[in-house]
Amino acid sequence: MRIVFSLNMLVGIVLCKMFCVLIILSILLLMLKKQYSKMRANRTHSETVVAFFHPYCNSGGGGERVLWAAVSAIQNKYNHLKYPNVHIIIYTGDLDAHPEQILNKAEKVFNYKIEQKVEFIYLHGRKWVEPSMYPYFTLLGQSLGSLWLALEALNTFVPDICIDTMGYAFTYPLFRYIGGCRVATYTHYPTISTDMMRHVYRRTVSHNNSRAIARNPFLSAAKLFYYKLFGLIYGWVGSRAEIIMVNSSWTEEHINAIWKCPLRTHKIYPPCNVKHLTSLPLLDDDEKCKNIRILSVAQFRPEKNHPLMLKAMYELRSIVEEEIWEKTRLILIGSCRNFEDEVRMKDMQDLSKHFALDENVEFKLNVPYSELLSEFQRATIGLHTMWNEHFGISVVECMAAGLIVVAHASGGPRADIIEIQQGSQNGFLATEAEEYATIMAHIINMHSEGRNAIRTVARASVNRFSDEVFEREFLRTIEPFFRQKQE
Ligand SMILES: *[C@@H]1O[C@H](CO)[C@@H](O)[C@H](O)[C@H]1NC(C)=O
Ligand SMILES: *[C@@H]1O[C@H](CO)[C@@H](O)[C@H](O)[C@H]1NC(C)=O
Ligand SMILES: *[C@@H]1O[C@H](CO)[C@@H](O)[C@H](O)[C@H]1NC(C)=O
Repeated sequence: MRIVFSLNMLVGIVLCKMFCVLIILSILLLMLKKQYSKMRANRTHSETVVAFFHPYCNSGGGGERVLWAAVSAIQNKYNHLKYPNVHIIIYTGDLDAHPEQILNKAEKVFNYKIEQKVEFIYLHGRKWVEPSMYPYFTLLGQSLGSLWLALEALNTFVPDICIDTMGYAFTYPLFRYIGGCRVATYTHYPTISTDMMRHVYRRTVSHNNSRAIARNPFLSAAKLFYYKLFGLIYGWVGSRAEIIMVNSSWTEEHINAIWKCPLRTHKIYPPCNVKHLTSLPLLDDDEKCKNIRILSVAQFRPEKNHPLMLKAMYELRSIVEEEIWEKTRLILIGSCRNFEDEVRMKDMQDLSKHFALDENVEFKLNVPYSELLSEFQRATIGLHTMWNEHFGISVVECMAAGLIVVAHASGGPRADIIEIQQGSQNGFLATEAEEYATIMAHIINMHSEGRNAIRTVARASVNRFSDEVFEREFLRTIEPFFRQKQE
C-alpha cells in the first residue's frame, strides 16, 4: 500500500517536473522569438538578407563549390534591376580566415569571382559540430551541437532567408519558427540513411558499427532503436525546410525515404567543372585507331574494382582479332592514398601478369594534369567499374573529354549520367566482365560515324552538370521566397 502510494507520488513528481521544464522552455523560446523579430526590425539593412549557413566555408571541397555557385547565382540575378537589393551573409566558423582570404580561395579553387559585397558572420562555437567531440552518440551530439551553433548565428544576426548548404537539418525548426526565417536546404548527403540502419539490423561490422556492437544482440537492438528514433526526429526537422534541394538521385531517394516530402524536393546537380574538358579538341578517329586506348581514372581503392577491368580485358582478348588486340591498351591512371593502396596496385600488376595482359596494361601513378589531359585526348574508351557509386564525377569527365564510356550499371552512372536509349545514347552500361568485353569489342568495331555520334551526344549531355544549368535551376527553385518578399 505504502509502496504503491510512494510510487504514485514519485511518478507525479517526475511528471510535474517535466511539465515545469516544458513550460519554462516554451517561455524561453517565445522570448527568443520576440527578441529575434525585434532584432530584425531594428536592422540597418533595408534589403532582403539571405544567409548561408556553412560553418566550413573555407574548406575548398565539393560542398563549398555549391556554396559559391549559389552565392554568385543570387548576386547575378538579384543585385540587378528587377528586384530591390539583396544582401548576402555567410555564417562561418573559419575564425582564422579573413573575408578576403576566403573569397580569394573561392576564386582560386573554384573560379567563382564574388564581386559584390558578402558579409561574413563568424561563429565561435564550431567545435560543437565536430565529430571528435562526441566519441559516443556522434549523430545526436553533432545535431544538438548544430542547434547551439545556429543559436549563436541568430543571436548575432537575424536574416530573412536562410539557406543551409551543409545539411544541418536540426537547425531548420529553429531558423523557421524561432528565427522567423524562410528556410531552404541543399543537401549532399543524408545524416542517417536506411543503409546505416540496415548495417546495424543485419549486425554487419562496418566503419560506424563496431565489432562489439555487431556481436552483441542487445547492444545491436539498442543501437537500432537509437537510429530509428534519430531517423524519426531527423525526418521531422528536415521536412521543416520549405524548399529542399538534393544533389543526386541517390540522395533524393534517401531523403525522400526519411523526410517524406517528395513534392518539395528538387534534384539539382551540383556544377562540375568540365568546361576545359569539353573544349579540348577531339583527335581524329583514324589517328586514334592506330592505337585503341581504354582509359580508367580511379584511385586504387578497393571499391573501384580494378580486378573487374582486368577480367574484362581478359575476356576482350578472346573475342577480338589478334591484330586488334595487339594495339589495344588499358591505361589505369590513379593515385594511392596510403600503403594499403600501394599494395593493392602491386596486386593488380600481378593479376595482369597472371592473365598474361601485362603487355596491354599500363599503370600510371600520380600523373600531372597535363599528362592526364593528353591521355584523355588519345583514348577512345573510358572504363568505370565501381558498384553503386553515388555519382561518378570521373564518368562525367571522360564524357566531357570525348570518350565513349562503359560504366557500371548501378548507382549514379545509371541513374544520373548514362543514357542508353537509341537516339539519345551517350554511353554504355555493363555489370559482368563478359558484358564489358562484348561492349568494348562492339565499340572498337563500330563505324567512326557511329562512334562520333555517341561522343557528340555525350559531350553535349554533360551540360546538365554545368554552372549555367545549376544557376538557372537553383534560382528557379528559390524564386518563391523572393517573390513573396516583394509582395
Ligand atoms: C536597436 O537599435 C538601437 C540603436 O541602434 C540599439 O540601441 C538597441 O539595443 C537595438 N535593439 C535591439 C533589440 O537590438
Ligand atoms: C553529392 O554529395 C555526396 C556527398 O558529398 C557526394 O558523394 C556525391 O558525389 C555528390 N553528388 C554529386 C552529383 O556531386
Ligand atoms: C561514420 O564515420 C564517418 C567517418 O569517421 C563520420 O564522418 C560519420 O559522421 C560517421 N557516422 C556516424 C553515424 O557516426
